[in-house]
Amino acid sequence: MIVMDEWIARPGGSLRGTIRVPGDKSISHRAMMLGALADGVCQVNGFLEGEDTLATAAAFRAMGVRIEADGAGRRIVHGVGIDGLNAPTSAIDCGNAGTGMRLLTGLLAGQRFDATLIGDASLSKRPMRRVTEPLARMGARIETADGGVPPLQVRGGQVLIGAEFDLAVASAQVKSALLLAGLYAQGTTTVREPHPTRDYTERMLAALGWPIEFSPGYASLTGGHRLRAADITVPSDFSSAAFYLVAASIVPGSDLVLDGVGMNPRRTGLLAALRLMGANIQERNRREQGGESIADLHVQHAPLHGIEVPEHLVPDMIDEFPVLFIAAATASGVTCVSGAAELRVKESDRIAVMATGLRDLGIRVDERPDGAIIHGGTVGGGKVIAHHDHRIAMSFVVAGQRAAGEVRIEGCSTVATSFPGFRELATSCGMGLS
Ligand code: S3P
Repeated sequence: MIVMDEWIARPGGSLRGTIRVPGDKSISHRAMMLGALADGVCQVNGFLEGEDTLATAAAFRAMGVRIEADGAGRRIVHGVGIDGLNAPTSAIDCGNAGTGMRLLTGLLAGQRFDATLIGDASLSKRPMRRVTEPLARMGARIETADGGVPPLQVRGGQVLIGAEFDLAVASAQVKSALLLAGLYAQGTTTVREPHPTRDYTERMLAALGWPIEFSPGYASLTGGHRLRAADITVPSDFSSAAFYLVAASIVPGSDLVLDGVGMNPRRTGLLAALRLMGANIQERNRREQGGESIADLHVQHAPLHGIEVPEHLVPDMIDEFPVLFIAAATASGVTCVSGAAELRVKESDRIAVMATGLRDLGIRVDERPDGAIIHGGTVGGGKVIAHHDHRIAMSFVVAGQRAAGEVRIEGCSTVATSFPGFRELATSCGMGLS
């Protein structure tokens, strides 16, 4: 298959209609992992058919789990029980997925067998000591390559002992890796976070019957229980909806509805930030689905102005900064982002890559170690490099909708990691993209 790596975005006119974005990536990863470890059969609906989550499903298939795909977004996971995984016969390839690799590291630390985790060029540069070091405190044996990056060699057959962690960085991936190791540990594993992060691991463990105490910023469980299969419904991914929320906000005349979007408060910080900037986004029909709150989001164009993004919102919108930078670039006035140094270790250095790309389109951006100051202005045409970072590529598609000329975006092939069908959906509601 030839993957077109360069996309051309240009104003396509107002965005209109009702759309549904694909399933949540974070929840889809966890559904494969916990479904695989459960006793019985889990039916998963709304599974993200993205490369990241397909890689996680493939990892469990390689460890002997039968996973049937009986329709788009549907998976039947035949759980093998908490101790039922088999040694994979080759290295597990997590592709581009930091979540897949970090969570699997915790889970594999408690197995009887050795495993090797590898990833693509971007993942192979990402820091893994944030999981391997705390896991080592529990008794795990994991080797990294020089510099603490993948490949990871996880040695099986270790006795894990529960521990208490006060995390320095707010990271759901680190928290989840420790909790997954904690399933296999003697005693109690407790994680405290400097700021609450997404709690999907905790919620899914509880839904599958594992005793766990959790509240925002805190989670604690003991090893030695079992998981009971239950059906899992995955809501639409707020992070995928984010591109459309910003695009419709900044393109005059837009009036768009996003159906059934996951509204977990640890994910929706962008909504609060956009509203502070003057966006007109209404929630309709808030409801519960599979234990998660969802809503339809109705977004209409509104003039945006710059803000100082409140630091307390940062963890709740950690994946949304690339597209927030685009909103800021088209807003009147200046937007300041601080307290967001984590952006430098995502799929790319998102502060540097966004600053460079926006400058290439004529926007002034002052880079800071933990954020940036974006001076709203006129977005021009030009060429930007997405560094094979899916969210950067999609963000510049949004920028193109307000650009004075064509925006050529190089490095778009990774969009399929989180958002298969992005291009078709974008053009179906009016975006200019080829
Ligand atoms: C994720 C946690 C976040 C987020 C990532 C998904 C998860 O990463 O950026 O896209 O599913 O747990 P960090 O834990 O590194 O902040």
